[in-house]
Amino acid sequence: MKKMLRMAARSCGVWRLGCVYLPALLIVLSGQLVWGKVTGPCVNCHTMHNSQNGSSVVDVDIGIQPALTTTDCVGCHSNDTATIKDLGGGSRVPIVYTTSEPSLTPGAENSMLAGGNFYWVVGDQTKGHNVYGISPEADSVLTKAPGGMAGGGGSSPCHDCHGSLATPKSGCKGCHLPAHHADDSGVVVDAEHGSYRFLGDIMAAENPGGPAPGGPYGLKGIEDPDWEQTVSSSDHNVYSGTTDLYQQSLGAPPIVDTIGQMCAGCHGDFHDAMNTGQDGGGNSVSGAWIRHPSDVIIPDSGEYAFYTEYNPLAPVAKVGIDAGMENAPTVTPGTDVVTCISCHRPHGSPYPDMLRWNYDSCQAGAESNECGCFVCHTKKDD
Ligand code: HEC
Ligand code: HEC
Ligand code: HEC
Ligand code: HEC
Ligand code: HEC
Ligand code: HEC
Ligand code: HEC
Repeated sequence: MKKMLRMAARSCGVWRLGCVYLPALLIVLSGQLVWGKVTGPCVNCHTMHNSQNGSSVVDVDIGIQPALTTTDCVGCHSNDTATIKDLGGGSRVPIVYTTSEPSLTPGAENSMLAGGNFYWVVGDQTKGHNVYGISPEADSVLTKAPGGMAGGGGSSPCHDCHGSLATPKSGCKGCHLPAHHADDSGVVVDAEHGSYRFLGDIMAAENPGGPAPGGPYGLKGIEDPDWEQTVSSSDHNVYSGTTDLYQQSLGAPPIVDTIGQMCAGCHGDFHDAMNTGQDGGGNSVSGAWIRHPSDVIIPDSGEYAFYTEYNPLAPVAKVGIDAGMENAPTVTPGTDVVTCISCHRPHGSPYPDMLRWNYDSCQAGAESNECGCFVCHTKKDD
């Protein structure tokens, strides 16, 4: 790991003059940067001959890099402290793994980004997804994605991703379908623009039959330009949700444009049979809940009706997102939905089950700004 970081640093260090000055000038001239797709000199990220001053840039032990890049996913997306790494020339890398503990206070140079940080998983496997290149081994307790299909064990091709994300064929690519050069300059990013945070239709890529009819599919969303390093009720990502009920099926891949359905692709039961009405395959949300609802409308009544100012501690997803909804400071009960990332961070968090808050701070009848359950269940702290 350290070696890879050193290499990433060296590849820019060697070219520092070219790296910083020329592109800086270009930024000034063009006046505005379009965040989202990569910018900056090719040499920041690619090596043409895998050779610099006669030495290899990429250690062959790491394996083949995608598209002649100087390092792999983890190499580029890791850092010691800062959670946005500046390679110069407008190339800013969002960091998902820092070797020092990230700050939980938004706005600092080392504040964790929206997805959380793998830092905590390295010390404690219960605090996030164990991924290849960061976690030395698979989760010792969870041998498959809870709520998901079996995965078939170590020798099955489906064990990658569904059984463990700590295998060479899964890791970051178990969830992301990278498209660093895709044009995502519009407000709403979707499959045609590299998908929200490159969360594309992974099963289509895995499926020899190609994408499902009408595809390719990918997540839709509005991307906060600093990946929520600074975040507030009026400065945040906008997530796509749905009220369509999710049904697991091998034959018909999910039309994944919502973040909840993407999680559900591996954790199906947590999104499928959520209540007694659905138990047995029925497609309704009547009856008592047997699991906490996801992609279900927040009622415009009772305690729920008071969640009207967006709170990034427990975000909601919006149905049918469109330009004009960026940074939406309001929550609309009766329309917006609760979803997986209302309560979880996808990479890792300081808390068990990669929750967004310390569940111990949730004590009925005791007020707490730290407990995300109270953001929707507004009367349970009274
Ligand atoms: C050579 C360096 C480099 C490598 C290798 C690399 N990335 Fe990136 N990645 C970047 C940069 C720079 C950005 C920021 C682009 C931008 O400004 O939005 C980025 C952005 C991202 C994003 C966020 C996209 C968004 O919409 O903001 C994801 C997700 C991502 N990379 C995943 C991956 C995965 C998975 C791999 C491995 C297959 C990978 N990256 C390999 C440099 C790299
Ligand atoms: C800040 C990092 C960064 C910079 C700068 C960058 N690239 Fe890339 N590029 C990547 C990453 C990461 C990938 C591999 C993953 C992917 O395809 O998303 C990639 C993939 C590619 C690919 C194959 C996939 C595709 O989209 O066609 C080509 C070709 C490419 N880059 C050419 C270039 C050229 C030419 C330049 C300079 C004009 C450049 N890149 C600058 C990060 C970068
Ligand atoms: C590279 C990672 C990866 C591999 C390998 C993989 N899957 Fe998946 N699978 C996913 C992801 C991610 C999803 C969530 C949806 C998406 O992004 O396409 C998913 C979703 C699914 C779903 C849910 C479909 C639905 O309608 O809910 C099924 C079923 C499935 N995979 C079966 C398989 C089988 C069978 C194999 C082995 C032949 C396999 N997967 C191999 C990553 C993978
Ligand atoms: C279990 C699925 C999953 C895995 C595995 C995963 N990611 Fe992500 N990643 C996500 C989701 C979901 C988001 C969007 C988070 C949000 O916007 O709230 C995301 C966001 C990102 C971003 C944007 C910054 C941020 O925090 O929002 C980058 C960069 C990124 N991932 C890179 C990686 C890299 C590199 C790896 C492997 C070390 C990886 N991811 C593994 C699901 C995953
Ligand atoms: C590609 C398949 C895949 C996708 C997509 C996926 N997960 Fe997972 N998840 C797994 C696997 C495998 C495990 C068990 C191994 C582990 O914890 O690393 C797991 C474990 C978990 C755990 C328990 C962590 C622990 O160690 O106790 C939580 C919570 C979780 N996932 C939430 C999510 C959420 C939320 C999303 C969507 C943002 C998501 N997952 C998307 C495969 C997936
Ligand atoms: C209302 C908040 C909330 C929502 C929404 C939510 N979760 Fe959870 N999740 C939790 C809590 C809290 C736990 C800790 C264990 C418990 O109390 O059940 C947990 C535990 C988990 C686990 C670990 C289970 C185990 O056996 O160790 C997984 C996996 C998981 N959630 C995935 C998901 C997925 C996927 C979604 C969306 C379909 C989702 N969660 C939606 C709050 C939530
Ligand atoms: C983003 C909003 C949101 C968050 C955060 C949230 N919930 Fe919920 N919760 C809901 C919605 C919406 C329902 C379903 C309301 C209905 O019945 O239509 C629900 C239902 C429930 C129910 C079942 C209520 C019933 O009438 O059967 C319980 C129990 C519950 N939540 C507990 C929790 C706990 C504990 C947490 C924190 C771990 C939490 N919720 C976090 C929105 C949320």
